[in-house]
Amino acid sequence: MSGTPPTELFEPYDELIEIEVLGQPVQVPENNPILRCFQFLDLENISYGDFCWNGDCTNCQIKVFRPGEDHPRGALSCRMTVRPGMRVVELSKHIRLSCLTPTETAR
Ligand code: FES
Repeated sequence: MSGTPPTELFEPYDELIEIEVLGQPVQVPENNPILRCFQFLDLENISYGDFCWNGDCTNCQIKVFRPGEDHPRGALSCRMTVRPGMRVVELSKHIRLSCLTPTETAR
């Protein structure tokens, strides 16, 4: 994580939940959009990224398995609320997360 994210960025949360991003388990704040969770993981890259945060630009596209689903679905990460056990398997090239190991590359 790069720096401590200011708490006012996030929807209120009581705890961190675990999801997987490109095969890596991470802890993110519950009750928040996935893009906001990415910001929690990498404050600088996501804060200065090219994101509208309102569903217009599509730069925040991901593919994600929701718990219990057999197939990944495409989603706008600024519009989908995180749930425990989600597995994000693909990131748009605009989503850069320095917390991921170098072998995990965004498409
Ligand atoms: S950030 Fe623009 S659509 Fe999600």
